[in-house]
Amino acid sequence: MLIEIKDVTKTIKKALILDRVSLEFKGGLIYGLQGPNGSGKTMLMRLVAGLILPTKGEVLIDGKRLGRDIDFPPSLGLLIENPAFLPGYTGKRNLELLAELQNRVGEKEICQAIRDAGLDPEDKRKYRKYSLGMKQRLGIAAAIMEKPDILLLDEPTNALDEGGVEEICGLIRRERDRGALVIVACHDRDLLEGLADEIYTVAEGRVERRQP
Ligand SMILES: Nc1ncnc2c1ncn2[C@@H]1O[C@H](COP(=O)(O)OP(=O)(O)O)[C@@H](O)[C@H]1O
Ligand SMILES: [Mg+2]
Repeated sequence: MLIEIKDVTKTIKKALILDRVSLEFKGGLIYGLQGPNGSGKTMLMRLVAGLILPTKGEVLIDGKRLGRDIDFPPSLGLLIENPAFLPGYTGKRNLELLAELQNRVGEKEICQAIRDAGLDPEDKRKYRKYSLGMKQRLGIAAAIMEKPDILLLDEPTNALDEGGVEEICGLIRRERDRGALVIVACHDRDLLEGLADEIYTVAEGRVERRQP
């Protein structure tokens, strides 16, 4: 798995959101994006996911250009900001409905992903009764349930307590170890230092490799 971001600039209206970004990401590694609010971490995630297209430059997924050869990376798990689940259904039912879109996984994988994210697949509560931390965990379960080649996690530890953060870090390492290319955006530098194989600093749309 290889993601190549080649000299990408993104402007929205007149605002410069990403400024001549060039990066390469490979499978089997955890990449950390660290930077303050508004620096461009989420936009970089959206770019890799094919949700926005560059104003200049290109993004290649295993050599295929997003927006030209393919619309989206073919195997992608994504957690960006507030996941949109249906409030009147249980967590498991929500994931079943999502899984039906691709038909790649069944109940077994769904239940495993829910457990991996630290929730109970038999929990009968509706999503609307979930705490913020439970909502976040369900978003993570949705992102991993299809064992994607690329896993994009935007602030995955938001709303989690200390134990929850450790659990999710363990999950992220296991995803890396099965070969996934993992990109984690997080404003918390200390957390990323303990988790990421490579850290990139994002500031005002510029991205730089942090020397280890
Ligand atoms: N939908 C949008 N339209 C225009 N500008 C946006 C939009 N979303 C975010 N931005 C701007 O893009 C920049 C980067 O935002 P973002 O990637 O969300 O930052 P981060 O995730 O690092 O907090 C910010 O200046 C923000 O104001
Ligand atoms: Mg963000």
